[in-house]
Amino acid sequence: MSSMQRTLDGARVLVGVGGGIAAYKTAHLVRGLVGERAEVRVVPTAASLEFVGAATWEALSHHPVLTSVFEDVDEVAHVRFGQEADLLVIAPATADLLARLRIGRADDLLTASALVTRAPVVVAPAMHTEMWEHPSTRENVAVLRERGVTVLEPAVGRLTGPDSGAGRLPEPAALLDAARAALAAPRDEDGGVRRDLAGRELLITAGGTREDLDPVRFLANHSSGRQGWALAHAALVRGARVRLLAANVDLDTPPGALRQDVGSAEELAESVAAHRREVDALVMAAAVADFTAAERSGSKIKKDDAEGADSVPALALRRTQDILRHSVLDRAETGGDRPAIVGFAAETGGEGASALELARAKARRKGADLLVFNDITGDVFGAADNSVRILDREGEEVARAEGSKTLVAHAVLDRLLTSLPEVR
Ligand code: CTP
Repeated sequence: MSSMQRTLDGARVLVGVGGGIAAYKTAHLVRGLVGERAEVRVVPTAASLEFVGAATWEALSHHPVLTSVFEDVDEVAHVRFGQEADLLVIAPATADLLARLRIGRADDLLTASALVTRAPVVVAPAMHTEMWEHPSTRENVAVLRERGVTVLEPAVGRLTGPDSGAGRLPEPAALLDAARAALAAPRDEDGGVRRDLAGRELLITAGGTREDLDPVRFLANHSSGRQGWALAHAALVRGARVRLLAANVDLDTPPGALRQDVGSAEELAESVAAHRREVDALVMAAAVADFTAAERSGSKIKKDDAEGADSVPALALRRTQDILRHSVLDRAETGGDRPAIVGFAAETGGEGASALELARAKARRKGADLLVFNDITGDVFGAADNSVRILDREGEEVARAEGSKTLVAHAVLDRLLTSLPEVR
């Protein structure tokens, strides 16, 4: 039985490698996992060693590599690896490997380990589009997902030949984030990831908006988009469909998310308005500018535009739409209970009010179902870790979460589910 290790630091991660050209990308994944201080064992299929040799895996993981159940038999590796793992990641998974996993074959060390383990399993398929879309593969994927296996959507793009389509292995950073999300997710009885968001659609905004002042300058903020990304990954592994509105985010798209890039607060407002009535929940993790240029200059603002050698041009600003508040009002107008709405508030205390007091007042003012409050008296932008309190619309604390943005993301989703039964 695996432990309840929820973060990669110290986790025992088994990385299965299938026989596809994308195996080279898995080398970067292994590096990333080791960089997060995970204890990695790589189990390549015999076919995959045609693409990336054992020496690469041994050097990167600092462990010997086994492929067959008949190597090091005295160690009973085929049982031990699976039993001891906190997480099994298979990348790339070929069509053949998916079929073997679905049927429960145990003809090599990787598939045998997959049968033994009760840890979360993340599978990243990569193959030609025709193979991915074949009814056999579709069915294998559906069955594996039903069993709690996280089968990631392949990325769309250029394939090995001259063709392009769905079938690319997602980028290593996206695989690492998906692994993180699966490890931290709630589990079903068999140790698989609980797909408690299956059949639901979430609209998640992430990043920070940019307000153009002239053709070369803009007003922006420090938001990296990582909290929104963590939410997207967490929701995806729990079975949700995710529409991700990304404001200036420089991160690899979470596999399976429908991503739309936006620039300014106004663009974000338009995209949220276009989709919020279609989804079960709106999660406003983006840092939205409260002010934008009253008038965007068509040409570069010159320092000499202002009168006098030492003077500076005055920047005229106007307020942007409060998208969160607007969405709450729009829902009230429709008279329904959809979507559930989650806001975020990063606060520093000041002028006689603590950060928490300001957040509680904001929760009441905004009227979202949940407000995730982050005390940023120390700087957290771009940092991996986080500590939040989740407030309801009366400003009462209903949950707390501490640790990685991934753990925070799952805590927010837990709360979204339990406190909002009206999410259909
Ligand atoms: N938000 C929004 N539209 C805006 C500004 C903020 O939808 N124009 C959302 C953010 O996405 C976040 C929440 O509102 O979920 C709180 O953002 P914050 O900047 O803390 O709120 P403000 O209303 O701007 O409050 P403040 O008075 O602190 O500036």
